[in-house]
Amino acid sequence: MVRFYYCLIWLCLHGNLVLARCGDAAFLEDAHLPSPGLIRKYGYPFEEHKIETNDGFLLTAHRIPKRGGPPVLLVHGLQDSSAAWLVNGPDKALAYLLSNRGYDVWMLNRLAYRSCIYEFPPQSKVLKKVFYKLCTVILHKSCTFLIMKLAGVDYRQLNSTTIQIYIGHFPAGGSVKSFDHYAQQINSGGFFKYNYRSVAKNRRAYGSAKPPAYKLGNVDCKVALYYGKNDLLAAVKDVQHLRNELPNVVHDELLTYRKFNHIDFLVAIDVRKLLYDSMFSVMKRVENGEL
Ligand SMILES: *[C@@H]1O[C@H](CO)[C@@H](O)[C@H](O)[C@H]1NC(C)=O
Repeated sequence: MVRFYYCLIWLCLHGNLVLARCGDAAFLEDAHLPSPGLIRKYGYPFEEHKIETNDGFLLTAHRIPKRGGPPVLLVHGLQDSSAAWLVNGPDKALAYLLSNRGYDVWMLNRLAYRSCIYEFPPQSKVLKKVFYKLCTVILHKSCTFLIMKLAGVDYRQLNSTTIQIYIGHFPAGGSVKSFDHYAQQINSGGFFKYNYRSVAKNRRAYGSAKPPAYKLGNVDCKVALYYGKNDLLAAVKDVQHLRNELPNVVHDELLTYRKFNHIDFLVAIDVRKLLYDSMFSVMKRVENGEL
């Protein structure tokens, strides 16, 4: 009986999906175009590269090539993909703006995606569509509310069209291990490598019973830090702790817009004025040897 209801619900949702696909004005092309399609749609060149890491992971990088331009590597967050740097559209998304300024843009895509057996959430096309429809058509208000609850409430910088496009690409999937590691960082109060919760396994991986701390003192490249007061996933106190551990911080900016939240870094309406303009000027000053 349970199975029967399950099937019925599935059929309803699926039917809704199929119907919605046919005649729904809110069906946004950008929500369903993968990164290569988005990049080409807005007239930029695209390349895909496979990169094998020293420890045997196979990463995918999406590139908007610019021969001779300074390379920039964009690394997305948990559950995200290279689309994070594109969903704000050609006038505002960081990848395009960097390319316009002459940078050779590289974006890692779906980190550790294929190499892990346990994925969350399960990556099936149908499930992704169900999630998208639920979030954009049926439960639009609740979904936006939930995003605000997780990322920090900021309705002023929220473009509801952009958020629907974003939901089409997020969550992109990730490994359970990444989530677990994230939780470990919170609970341990430090910045340690993954804890296998087994002395034998930790010993095999690290040669010690407990996972070692990352050596932030070894990060010798120049670092600029930007953070928001209203970012519920990155506490100001933690970023400032990080700043004090890093040996080469050239720029440290707590953003002045008080409501700046976790997703404003990617999709805020005024993200150029609030954040990117400062970033571009810091990058120029570093290139010119002024910082
Ligand atoms: C919201 O996003 C859409 C789609 O990218 C864009 O056309 C529109 O101008 C944006 N609205 C604002 C207020 O920025």
